[in-house]
Amino acid sequence: MARFLMVTATSGTNRELADVFATTATEKGHEAEVIDLAEMDLPMFTMARSKDPESAPDISDFVTSMSEADAWVIVAPEYNGSVPPTLNNAIAWMSTAMDWQDFRSLCTGKPVGLATHSGGGGAHVIMAMRQQFSFIGADVIGRACMSGRNKEANPEAIEAMIDNLAR
Ligand SMILES: Cc1cc2nc3c(=O)[nH]c(=O)nc-3n(C[C@H](O)[C@H](O)[C@H](O)COP(=O)(O)O)c2cc1C
Repeated sequence: MARFLMVTATSGTNRELADVFATTATEKGHEAEVIDLAEMDLPMFTMARSKDPESAPDISDFVTSMSEADAWVIVAPEYNGSVPPTLNNAIAWMSTAMDWQDFRSLCTGKPVGLATHSGGGGAHVIMAMRQQFSFIGADVIGRACMSGRNKEANPEAIEAMIDNLAR
């Protein structure tokens, strides 16, 4: 039994896809939580805000969920050939909410699966997330779930990703 955290960057079709991942995981006997970064509505990260205790958001619950999960599934739409600002913003806040060694150890070796529901195929956002999550030390699995206006998410891919991440 693994503890999954599904992180969705947006509250529309990507939230729905994150919920499908969570349902698939629980049907397989795992635990699953979904965090919606758009709902979290974090202020934009700036160095000035991060150094001001009055302006910096309290993301301790988010950090705890990220830390306690055995695996993450990151679900995000493609925005202009890359990741949406909610995702990049959340990573920036998380990386400065603790010292860099703690951030490194939180991320290092974490099994991560990537998924998208984008206007087109979503290949660019998958590549961008693969680069970013590999950079922060996570073990990004090879298989990803790409869906969009003209392509439904493949349930077999979702099941295979959950099985692989729960290893
Ligand atoms: C600012 C912006 C930029 C976008 N850029 C792209 C893009 O580069 N490639 C693409 O396939 N879709 C693009 N889209 C479409 C979204 O990926 C698509 O509508 C997605 O399903 C939205 O996710 P949501 O329903 O979870 O909000 C863009 C949408 C917005 C709002």
